[in-house]
Amino acid sequence: MQPRRKFIKTLAGLAAASTARSFAEPEPNLRPPEKPKGFPTMWVGAVTATGGVVKTKIPPGLNPRLLVREAGGEPLIFKPEPLLDPSQTVAIFRLEHLRPLTDYQCTLEVKGAPASFPPAMVRTFPPEGQPANFAFAFGSCARTGSQHEVFNTIARKRPAVLLHLGDFHYCNISRNDPRSFRAAWDTTLSSTTQGALYRNVPLAYIYDDHDFGPNDADKRSPARPASRTVYREYSPHYPLPAGDGDAAIYQAFTVGRVRFILTDLRSERDAEKTPDSPAKSMLGAAQKEWFKRELLEASRTHGLVVWGSSVPWIGAKGSDSWQNYADERRELCNFIAQHRIKNLCILCGDAHMLAADNGTNSDYSDSKKLRIPVLHGSAFDQGGSLKGGPYSEGTYLPKGKDGLFGWVEVEDDGQRVAVRFTGRNHLDEVKVNLNFEIA
Ligand SMILES: [Fe+2]
Repeated sequence: MQPRRKFIKTLAGLAAASTARSFAEPEPNLRPPEKPKGFPTMWVGAVTATGGVVKTKIPPGLNPRLLVREAGGEPLIFKPEPLLDPSQTVAIFRLEHLRPLTDYQCTLEVKGAPASFPPAMVRTFPPEGQPANFAFAFGSCARTGSQHEVFNTIARKRPAVLLHLGDFHYCNISRNDPRSFRAAWDTTLSSTTQGALYRNVPLAYIYDDHDFGPNDADKRSPARPASRTVYREYSPHYPLPAGDGDAAIYQAFTVGRVRFILTDLRSERDAEKTPDSPAKSMLGAAQKEWFKRELLEASRTHGLVVWGSSVPWIGAKGSDSWQNYADERRELCNFIAQHRIKNLCILCGDAHMLAADNGTNSDYSDSKKLRIPVLHGSAFDQGGSLKGGPYSEGTYLPKGKDGLFGWVEVEDDGQRVAVRFTGRNHLDEVKVNLNFEIA
């Protein structure tokens, strides 16, 4: 933890830079990856139609407040939640009683004076259960502390939410040491481009292997307790059905009539090298039960269900993907077929590529009647890797300095949901696309 005096000095030193820059402008002094500049300011997530969570790094005892104001309005004042753990270094502000589809400027106040860094911005979602048109971004995989321009590109497009499907950093931590995980978060949030993005666009994030533990990590990772506990401290996550502390991080949320389901495919998974069998699981028993219940309920009550899988779904060979949990993949497909779930699409991380499949290649059920669109929108900042497939709409690997992401526009008239996916690079050029409709 920083000494208090140094922290206040840091805030004061940033005062001049605090006001003029908006999220839409590229921040100056972009530096190469692995050399982040700055320090963690504020980051936003768990947004709903009426609330959200803002997190920031604050040493205890500074009595911070968050002033949350819509244009021309009086500020709402929020105090941080009490610390659960005395070693916690993150202050958590839980916003409530906000209005749907409204922009709020969130200014941190420390010891009665406005803090110096730029305010966070929260745009609340459309009302739950009502048809709404909106766009969201998704992707995964960025070098530790990446300052890639792609993060500015995403911020400029103002998605309702950014789904980050893992490899937030590549620290590959294999020790059960919360300080290592906190340092990894601090490095990532200190990137000027990522910091500005997460201050202005709600983040919905699940880890994959490199940010959960070592490469290809599973539930046996010695780092598991620290990883899952520090996730709860730093990530502005939605409510976690598995509870507090050292537990899985699966979660779900709603925008309009679209249900997003994010699974934890690392911390409960059996070893990949175990021979495939009905008992071998990537989800673990408790999460699988929750997932099936969510799928069933959401498919009945929502127009579209979006499942974020941190690893590729389609494929017959290769490693670290669903193909090595083929019995469980078939079980899930049979469940989807049996319950006639027809409004699901899958978003995948891990593979450093853009790709789309219209449902031709994604069905592993016994009936062979499913058509589940599958979308890939990676990597934010990594060299290319082709995984799984085939993909009906093709693939695109990053070229040169490409930073890649997925962009999804949803148009919902209450009867029919039209989805337009485009896989893009940091110049916002479209490389892969797929349109589909659910009626
Ligand atoms: Fe990755």
